[in-house]
Amino acid sequence: MAKNTATLTDNETGESIELNILHPTQGPKAIDVSQLYKKTGLLTYDPGFMSTASCWSDITYLDGDQGLLEYRGYSIDQLAEKGSFMETCYLLLNGELPNKEELDSFINLVTYHTMLHEQMKRFYSGFRRDAHPMATMVGVVGALSAFYHEYMDIADEKDRYDAAILLIAKMPTIAAWSYRYANGTPFVYPNNNLSYAENFLHMMFSLPSEKYIASPIMVRALEVILITHADHEQNASTSTVRLAGSSEANPFAAIAAGIASLWGPAHGGANEAAVKMLIEISKSKEDVDYFIEKAKDKTNNFRLMGFGHRVYKSYDPRAKIIRDLCHQIIDGGLAKEEHKELLDIAMTLEKVALEDEYFVKRKLYPNVDFYSGIIFLSMGIPLNMFTVMFAMARTIGWISHWHEMMGDNKTRISRPRQLYTGKSHRDYVPLAKR
Ligand code: SDX
Repeated sequence: MAKNTATLTDNETGESIELNILHPTQGPKAIDVSQLYKKTGLLTYDPGFMSTASCWSDITYLDGDQGLLEYRGYSIDQLAEKGSFMETCYLLLNGELPNKEELDSFINLVTYHTMLHEQMKRFYSGFRRDAHPMATMVGVVGALSAFYHEYMDIADEKDRYDAAILLIAKMPTIAAWSYRYANGTPFVYPNNNLSYAENFLHMMFSLPSEKYIASPIMVRALEVILITHADHEQNASTSTVRLAGSSEANPFAAIAAGIASLWGPAHGGANEAAVKMLIEISKSKEDVDYFIEKAKDKTNNFRLMGFGHRVYKSYDPRAKIIRDLCHQIIDGGLAKEEHKELLDIAMTLEKVALEDEYFVKRKLYPNVDFYSGIIFLSMGIPLNMFTVMFAMARTIGWISHWHEMMGDNKTRISRPRQLYTGKSHRDYVPLAKR
């Protein structure tokens, strides 16, 4: 088949160059500009990477127009309905769904690495009690690089896989301890007899003074939340992990960078911001229409948090799954009245927005963060822990992308260029003459 190319002509110089067009398994084709600067001295300019593919990847596929999300070819709907988070982790990291033996040994591997080095506890006591748990998590995960650095040879595939297992295993403990430290309750150690999701709820809510049994509906709801948040191709935090990892930095430090990026309200921090917005609306004397108009008004920075997406220009498939989960929990009588009220407000916001020309024209739909916070509240998880939940789930996505990138011998350090708009050359002026 003839090569698929595009011709670029600089109409100032009249020079042209043939550029190959790359064809992925599915999704948009791409013009290969990797040699453009070398051959023409021209850079490409794409702030925010609106039209830029940064890598090849086999892990996750999104179709923003169709509202499709697939992990290694399996749809998020089927994985959320039929799968477990552990088999989703195995799938994202290894590329295939595990058989029973592979799944059991993977679960064992993760289960027996959930403990933290006892000295890790001291990192928590360095924080104020009112520190945001995302700040604690960034610090403690970064500190893991101090415990697993010496023998971590990232050129060794087995060491890389071990780092992935350690991170998947330890994130729930780190997350739960961030919560326990903030509310002054004693750290609870992992219980190897519990499933991943159940163990997290155990470390979050059990007390020395009374037995805690997690509700099976909440355990399954948490599994679905973990599955739907596990990966999302080259989002800001995953791209951060890839960029940090491209310098061959310690993987724990690279994941800490990803956690920092996820924290922003434009990204994973939107789940906390969305519920704060719903609570503000519930307490306001203004109605939903007032807030819809406010979100459209460019003279203020209010946005409908949990709405809009860089890739999805249709309904985020995860939002649909999580919205249905909200209804199941509320219909199952497992949520408080105030949580039901927040869901009603969210549903009204969604209905009004999706009939409003501003949102329709810009293809703004609810995203993964619009409904998830209502589920977290019904689980007893406080607002400032919402993005910690997202980070715990996304760790498998981050480390799978890191593992894929570091396993590719063509990987080079990521180093974008810029368009310089500063002062041209000028000579130093002595202080006396300024
Ligand atoms: C996540 O990338 C991923 O995959 C992320 C994620 C993942 O799983 O990793 O899916 C998780 O981060 C989901 C997104 C969570 N963030 C929010 O919910 C915050 C609110 N949403 C926005 O800030 C915004 O929609 C973004 C950040 C999500 C997307 O930003 P873009 O793609 O840069 O789009 P934009 O800001 O340029 O918006 C385009 C237009 C603008 O209006 P105009 O300039 O055309 O007039 O839409 C408007 C925006 O003002 N707009 C909104 C809006 N989102 C976009 N207006 C009101 N409310 C909103 N929420």
